[in-house]
Amino acid sequence: GFSLKERAANKGLIYGAAARQIDLSSNASYAAAIVQNCNMLVPEWEFKWIAGNARLRPSPEQFDFTAADWMANFAATHGQLLRGHTLVWHDSLPEWFKTSVNSRNAAQLLEKHIQTVVKRYAGKIHSWDVVNEAIKIEDGRSDGWRITPWLELLGPNYLDLAFHLTAATDPEALLVYNDFGLDYDTPEQEAKRTAVLKLLERLRTNGTPIHALGIQAHLSPAENKFNPSKLRKFLQDVASMGLKIMITEMDVADKKLPKDIQIRDRIIAGVYEDYLSTALDERAVIAVITWGLSDRYTYVSESQPRSDRAPVRPLPLDAQMQRKLAWNAIARAFDNA
Ligand code: G3I
Repeated sequence: GFSLKERAANKGLIYGAAARQIDLSSNASYAAAIVQNCNMLVPEWEFKWIAGNARLRPSPEQFDFTAADWMANFAATHGQLLRGHTLVWHDSLPEWFKTSVNSRNAAQLLEKHIQTVVKRYAGKIHSWDVVNEAIKIEDGRSDGWRITPWLELLGPNYLDLAFHLTAATDPEALLVYNDFGLDYDTPEQEAKRTAVLKLLERLRTNGTPIHALGIQAHLSPAENKFNPSKLRKFLQDVASMGLKIMITEMDVADKKLPKDIQIRDRIIAGVYEDYLSTALDERAVIAVITWGLSDRYTYVSESQPRSDRAPVRPLPLDAQMQRKLAWNAIARAFDNA
C-alpha cells in the first residue's frame, strides 16, 4: 500500500523521521525504509555542535561538515526535504565551549556558527530549529525561561539574535522554535504551554523573524493525561499568531506498558492516533516527524529503557523494518486529515 510520505503528500502534509549517518550507512534495509516512508529527513546528530560520533564543531575555529554533508546528500539523492536541527541549544555543546566562550566573545561565536552552517546549506533546508528547548519552568525564572549558557552569556535577546542571523543567511528556510513537554493536561505542561506562547508573542512583538513552532511530542501513555481539547486550544493559539506548527520528534515511550507485544503495540498505536487526529485537525500543522523510524534505532532505548529489559517499541516500524500498528495509526491519521 501507499507509504507514509505518499499518504501525507496526498493531504499536502509532510512525513519525516530523524536518522543518523551511522545507521543509514550501515544498514541497507533501514536506509531503504527511510527512503520509502519519508519525504523529510532530520539529522539526529550531524547538525548539532557535537553529538554521538558527529563533531560539527571540533574547536572554536573549526567546522567539520563531513557528517552533515553526508546527511544533506542522502536527502538530496532521495528527493527528501531536509531539516536543520539545531543551532542554539543548551545540550550537545562541545567541551571547549565551557573554557573558550565568555560574554565578550559569545555573540561573535554564535554569529560565526550561524553564518557558516546556515550559509553552507542555504536553499537546501526546509526548516531550521533555530532555538531548541529554551523554556524550563523548574529553573524558577518568572518568564519560565531555561537558564542556559546562551541566556547567561547573551541575555534574553539571544533568541532574537539567533533568528535574525538565520533569516539573514537563509531567507528561504522556515524558522522554528522547538520544544517538548507541551502535550499533556498537567499543571507543569500547562505552565510550559503558557510560557511558550509568551515567548512566541515576545518574538512576534519584537518583529523577530520566526515562522513556526516545533512541538516535539515525545509522548508517554503511562501518564495518561492527554486531553484533546487542551491540545486543540494550544494549537489554535499558536496558529492565531500566524505561525505554522510542526510535530517534530514524535515517539511513544512504552516504559510502563505491559510486556505483551500485542497489547503494548495496540496502546502505542492508540496514542499516535489520538494525538495525530487532534493535531492534524489544525490547518497550521504542516508536518509530522517521528524521532526515528524503526525500533532498532531509537533514543528511547537509552533514555527510557524498560525495567524488564524487553526491547522498546516506540516507533512505526519494528526492529526488522516491518510495519507495526503505530504505522497504521499514522497512516490513518494522514488519510483522515
Ligand atoms: O552511545 C553512547 C554510549 O555508548 C555512551 O555510554 C554514552 C555516554 O554519554 O553516550 C552515548 O552516545 C550518546 C547518544 O546520544 C546515544 O543515543 C551521545 O552522547 C549523545 O550526544 C546522543 O544523544 C542524542 C541527544 O539528542 C543529544 O544530542 C540522542 O541520540 C538524540 O536522540 C537526542 O535527541 C534530542 C533532540 O535533539 C532534542 N529533543 C530531545 C531529543 C531526545 O533527547
